[in-house]
Amino acid sequence: MCGIVGFTGRREAAPVLLQGLARLEYRGYDSSGLITGTGDSLHLRKKAGRLAELAKEVAARPAPGCYGISHTRWATHGGATDRNAHPHTDTAGDIALVHNGVIENYSTLKHQLQEDGVEFRSDTDTEVLAHLIAHYYDGDLLEAVKNALALVKGTYGIAVVSRKEPGVLVGARLGSPLVLGIGPDGNYLASDASALAGYATQVVYLNDRQICQLDPEAWVIRNQDLDTVDAPVQDIEHFLGDGDADRGDFPHYMLKEIYEQPETLANAMRGRLDEPDATAHFGGLNLTSHELRQIDRIILTACGTSYHAGIVGEYLFEELARIPAEVEYASEFRYRNPPIDRHTLVFAITQSGETADTLAALRESKRMGHTTLAICNVVGSSIAREACGGVYLHAGPEVGVASTKAFTSQVAVLAMLALYFGRTRHLSATQGARIIEELRALPEIVRKTLGCHPRVKEVARKYYTARNFLYLGRQYLYPAALEGALKLKEISYIHAEGYPAAEMKHGPIALVDENTPSVFLCPKGSVFDKVMSNMQEIKARRGPVIAVCSEGDREVAAVADDVIPVPDVPEYLQPIVTAIPLQLLAYEIALLCGCDVDKPRNLAKSVTVE
Ligand code: G6P
Repeated sequence: MCGIVGFTGRREAAPVLLQGLARLEYRGYDSSGLITGTGDSLHLRKKAGRLAELAKEVAARPAPGCYGISHTRWATHGGATDRNAHPHTDTAGDIALVHNGVIENYSTLKHQLQEDGVEFRSDTDTEVLAHLIAHYYDGDLLEAVKNALALVKGTYGIAVVSRKEPGVLVGARLGSPLVLGIGPDGNYLASDASALAGYATQVVYLNDRQICQLDPEAWVIRNQDLDTVDAPVQDIEHFLGDGDADRGDFPHYMLKEIYEQPETLANAMRGRLDEPDATAHFGGLNLTSHELRQIDRIILTACGTSYHAGIVGEYLFEELARIPAEVEYASEFRYRNPPIDRHTLVFAITQSGETADTLAALRESKRMGHTTLAICNVVGSSIAREACGGVYLHAGPEVGVASTKAFTSQVAVLAMLALYFGRTRHLSATQGARIIEELRALPEIVRKTLGCHPRVKEVARKYYTARNFLYLGRQYLYPAALEGALKLKEISYIHAEGYPAAEMKHGPIALVDENTPSVFLCPKGSVFDKVMSNMQEIKARRGPVIAVCSEGDREVAAVADDVIPVPDVPEYLQPIVTAIPLQLLAYEIALLCGCDVDKPRNLAKSVTVE
């Protein structure tokens, strides 16, 4: 995780760095820092806490100079303190470095450096690298960085400066994203192109094991032997997403993103539904129809919310396309080495396109020779670039740490993919046409569903003091229950468990008492009666029940303590429609608990470490 911004050019660096960091705060926000240079002096400022603390510090003690590097941190090694914040320097203060990733062999390296008399001033893995670079430094920063990195095991995206080479920035990447920016005022480095919006006009993405060097006038990218490599220069516009990262009149990004869903769903489907052939189309799958028909198994791999979308995908591919499918946590899949047949297709599902485990799972399946496709939101992200093909969500930037609109768009894309795959197999034109009609109606239905907000607020007020929640659903609503529970945990810090409704009697029902509300997902569907029996089992144990149910459902209203009605949709779309009240419920409860909804404690939006 962590965000990196560097600049060298013809204007003051500190405002550029602070502005870039503000755009990267989603990558981590427990501390931040910057260092700028004038002549042969470096000016270091770093602070624990939110970026506002660093901005205050820089306002009180300006950091002058036209070049510098900066960082916003999500702690891995060492607590969130001033001294653990980046940049880190060597003992003499000649070299400064910011780092995203994990140096896995840092304790061995640290031990060796300590034996040579180096004294450490932080608890981080990163500081090792600053001392190592200083150890190799002999007037050529690029060479010193190259030599130091040769000793490192782990992952890194770094930006480095030396007091002795004013105006020069060196960057390198292995497993953590880094992009070089080119603009009228100078050159930039960042962990994400979005940090450079309004500054750089063009970008060059670094690949793993590449090192770059930039000054105000020029830049170069080299491989690990320091040979120059050609890298495509692209317009930054292409990578800034289709949406607006402004909060507008909404008090939080999360709420704005919840309310954007009618539009983001329409965007996910735009130009992809084909009425005449009763199927869906995708520009970038890069599969021939022959390859498509050969696929006899699908693996979906992802983390967090994207994993929950993956479970819906598993059900969709099996129901609509009759292709055996399974979903795997990327962190497990990457090390598990499961037997996979030749005609298996692997999907990596990810909002950010940078999640370290998902990226590693994608690489592992590519290495094994499988066609690996991405379902991704961020254009130009590592996973989008490395996959054999894929589908973009076009949901626009998602800033709230708790994923909302990306989830519903992922499910919509998976439904369209299942339709497409199904239509190359047994799914009839009539069935295909019906699905298209249902998908087309979805944005308007979701707009209507948002009307549940006042009701959700009442429910939140009644239950926000509970310390445990259960979320229960069956079939397509089982992953929806997992996702509802995750939302609540993430932003309100209340313990919540998602469970298949029938499975709770094998354990979790022991948790039920008058203080433990159960959120039942029970709109009308094929297992409605079964879910009603499960609800009775909870009521029989005096557990309060909040039911997300079909509009006008009297049977549910007679049993549940509180109901949140939602419009009826076919079962495979219920995870999208029920997501709306569950997202709003988590949001309202978190507000009542006084939590920071957009930046919950301990989390980060994009998890680029293992
Ligand atoms: C983090 C975020 C989650 C997200 C997960 C996977 O944990 O806080 O909201 O679901 O990463 O992220 P991805 O970008 O791969 O979908």
